[in-house]
Amino acid sequence: MRESNIKPAGSATLTVKGKNYELPVLSGTQGPDAVDIRKLYDQADLFTYDPGFTSTCSTESNITFIDGDKGVLQYRGYPIADLAEHSNFLESCYLLLYGELPTKTQMAAFEHSITHHTMVHEQLASFFRGFRRDAHPMAIMCGVVGALSAFYHDSTDITDKRQREVASHRLIAKMPTIAAMAFKYSVGQPFVYPRNDLGYTDNFMRMCFSVPADDYKINKVLSKALDTIFILHADHEQNASTSTVRLAGSSGANPFACIAAGIACLWGPAHGGANEAALKMLEEIGTVDRIPEFVAKAKDKTSGFRLMGFGHRVYKNYDPRAKAMQIQAHAVLDELGLHDDPLLKVAIELEKVALKDPYFIEKKLYPNIDFYSGITLRALGFPTSMFTVLFALARTVGWIAQWKEMLEDPHQKIGRPRQIYTGPTERKYVAMGSRK
Ligand code: CMC
Repeated sequence: MRESNIKPAGSATLTVKGKNYELPVLSGTQGPDAVDIRKLYDQADLFTYDPGFTSTCSTESNITFIDGDKGVLQYRGYPIADLAEHSNFLESCYLLLYGELPTKTQMAAFEHSITHHTMVHEQLASFFRGFRRDAHPMAIMCGVVGALSAFYHDSTDITDKRQREVASHRLIAKMPTIAAMAFKYSVGQPFVYPRNDLGYTDNFMRMCFSVPADDYKINKVLSKALDTIFILHADHEQNASTSTVRLAGSSGANPFACIAAGIACLWGPAHGGANEAALKMLEEIGTVDRIPEFVAKAKDKTSGFRLMGFGHRVYKNYDPRAKAMQIQAHAVLDELGLHDDPLLKVAIELEKVALKDPYFIEKKLYPNIDFYSGITLRALGFPTSMFTVLFALARTVGWIAQWKEMLEDPHQKIGRPRQIYTGPTERKYVAMGSRK
């Protein structure tokens, strides 16, 4: 069990129907204080109402910090831009999992463990063959990752620290293999086994793009871009999929089942599916001259259309990940000689137009990470259906770090929100023959 780092910071008084309730106020190391309402129901017979949890802290956490107004994102205190520039994905995984940047020896041991867990049970391949070839790879990911608990019985005891660690390493190591298999299955090519002499992202690129008939040459610019995409997506505090993983884990579910739940949540277009949606939107816009039409549609509430890749629940400023993403998008397009890519032109112009438009300014709608990641992933050779899979691959470390943290939290309880009930009050059962 880990110690709580929450500090008392005074109290707040809540007055309801003339009665006062003193509620403790709590402080972390950064970010807003929080009113502790844990005893509110007991003391006042009151619930709080916060659909979408916009003002609710579900947990104490020391993994990732976001200041949405200032556009700040830090993993364990390290700014995301520094990690994107100087670190690599596996080192960031270590940081997220263990709280500190590794020493050389720690890194070597971690790399060795991840590298030696990349293979999946051979029978898992037949699991893939049960899917239709046209299945969305995220559907395959949900199924196959959930199925891992049927294969690795020796790492599902969540009360055993060592088993939790083995499960964590297995998940980080096997996600690229499973993601590459989902890709290969969808394009009808043979699965490619991992290679231990390659780094994490090089190995993944090779598993995706090599074929038995041809050797695959690692391109360091492209690998660096994908590795950066992985760093940028690795964690994002208590977002929808992470909260899903925590909620699933709060019942004591095994780690593989929890991560499968996270994958299912991530799939939605308001969350991880947005990069796919953003690219489809850029394709639909097609040319720069059609931008005003789409911007007008996004501002028209009756259209039901939103500019994909714009806006964020937490960032009310430029998404700090979008800046690093934009740099990588240009690096990849330059390397591949695609700087005249029409979609990039549409994206750059759309960003300019939206950033000057009063509607987007007033509502603080800035480009988010998904705005440039779709263009980059497409240039790297991934079909749009794989975009969310890559997000899931990267976010697995965040999910697992948060899951581990939750299990080690002395205040951990099963997650169980309440509701304001507005249905019928008690009524008498009416026999079918007497119903109107
Ligand atoms: N285009 C046009 N209008 C928008 C957009 C948009 N992309 N996003 C929000 N709005 C408007 C919305 O209509 C609302 O207007 P009003 O106040 O007049 O009703 C206002 O801005 C606030 O929107 P909201 O839906 O209440 O805000 P939210 O915090 O619940 O939603 C969001 C955040 C990300 C779901 C939303 O901005 C959105 O749907 N964006 C497009 C999808 C997208 O790019 N998602 C990726 C998020 S980043 C990846 C990740 O971290 O998971």
